Amino acid sequence: MERTFAIIKPDAFAAGHAGKILARIYAEGFKVVGLKKLWLSKKEAEGFYYVHRERPFFGELTDFMSSGPCIVMVLEAEDAIRKWRDLMGATNPAEAAEGTLRREFGGSIGENATHGSDAPETAAFEIGYFFSGMELL
Ligand code: RTP
Ligand code: MG
Repeated sequence: MERTFAIIKPDAFAAGHAGKILARIYAEGFKVVGLKKLWLSKKEAEGFYYVHRERPFFGELTDFMSSGPCIVMVLEAEDAIRKWRDLMGATNPAEAAEGTLRREFGGSIGENATHGSDAPETAAFEIGYFFSGMELL
């Protein structure tokens, strides 16, 4: 079993899509090991996405991620990291395959409904950024 870190981003939460996204998560066989609603500060969003700090979209990305509440989750499944990224689809919703969450719920490359860790090391960092061990028993 593997764990990954996921976010229902502020656009999808504000649009009322959190329930539908969670239903897909359960339907695809993930176990939801941790879940909480948060409203990130700008500083917290910058810390989370620090790998992108030199990218031209960093300011826009962290403004968006701190623009309203989101849901952060730890998901468990076999091959969870790849499985969750497959369910999310491509970063740009316009390029995401039919049936993926970003295709269905994403509005633009910046406001693309969900986040998922991209490797075991990033999953470990991202899970630890938001959850303590006791919250994931
Ligand atoms: P994420 O980290 O949110 O799961 O997305 P990702 O791996 O598919 O994409 P990544 O390259 O890590 O980019 C992180 C987030 O930055 C925003 N972005 N905006 N305006 C742009 O060109 C641009 N490129 C990326 C997206 O919201 C992306 O999810
Ligand atoms: Mg990423």
